[in-house]
Amino acid sequence: MSEMLTIALSKGRILQDTLPLLAQAGIELAEDPEKSRKLVLETSRDDVRIVVVRATDVPTYVQYGGADVGVSGKDVLMEFGGDLYEPLDLRIARCRMMVAGEPGANERPGRLRVATKFVNITRRYFAEQGRQVEVIKLYGSMELAPLVGMADLIVDLVDTGNTLRANGLVPLEHIADISSRLIVNKAAMKTKHRRIKALIADLERAVAQRA
Ligand code: ATP
Ligand code: PRP
Repeated sequence: MSEMLTIALSKGRILQDTLPLLAQAGIELAEDPEKSRKLVLETSRDDVRIVVVRATDVPTYVQYGGADVGVSGKDVLMEFGGDLYEPLDLRIARCRMMVAGEPGANERPGRLRVATKFVNITRRYFAEQGRQVEVIKLYGSMELAPLVGMADLIVDLVDTGNTLRANGLVPLEHIADISSRLIVNKAAMKTKHRRIKALIADLERAVAQRA
């Protein structure tokens, strides 16, 4: 039997959208991952297993060899900034990274306050434009910060715009288009080259069929 290939995924959107692609690559889960409390899930293939971790932890597991490959949002990868291969855009979980706030809030005078969980991306974006801002780290519900006067702006993901609208905010500046990527551990790409290449090719085909 060949050596085990470990795939890191996060519950929710990424798992839901990745499972059909994996199924087309011949990898199916034995049990419903959303219902199971298990963190290591067997698949229809003896030599492939799935580990379920927090979305922001997927790149860490892959970089440090806890998993050979994984699926991560480009937002998480941009924020992580680690040392990984990123061979394939899976074109799932698509949205945009935006600066948002009350209308005109990005034109206020003085040093603006920006609330976000993406502090690295935010610092980089404003620094590249030579704009001085104060970045406030939050872990969620960023939309609240401008409403209570804690920040002028937020940097967050926007899909339909419903969350912003529901809170009286508008998208103001586009930072990046986001989708989920297949990521690969650098050492595994060498030691398990044939298997990982085959997985990439299978997933590439599955993505092309869905487009
Ligand atoms: P954690 O569990 O660590 O808090 P999370 O809540 O960010 O993670 P998800 O909400 O499942 O996890 O998001 C996973 C990925 O899906 C994000 O990293 C992003 O790339 C993408 N995503 C987030 N929000 C949306 C959205 N509204 N529409 C489409 N894709 C999105
Ligand atoms: C994400 C993101 C926004 C929302 C944008 O949150 O953080 O709040 O989606 O989507 P929309 O433009 O379609 O409203 P998510 O739904 O993942 O909830 P979370 O707070 O659990 O991350």
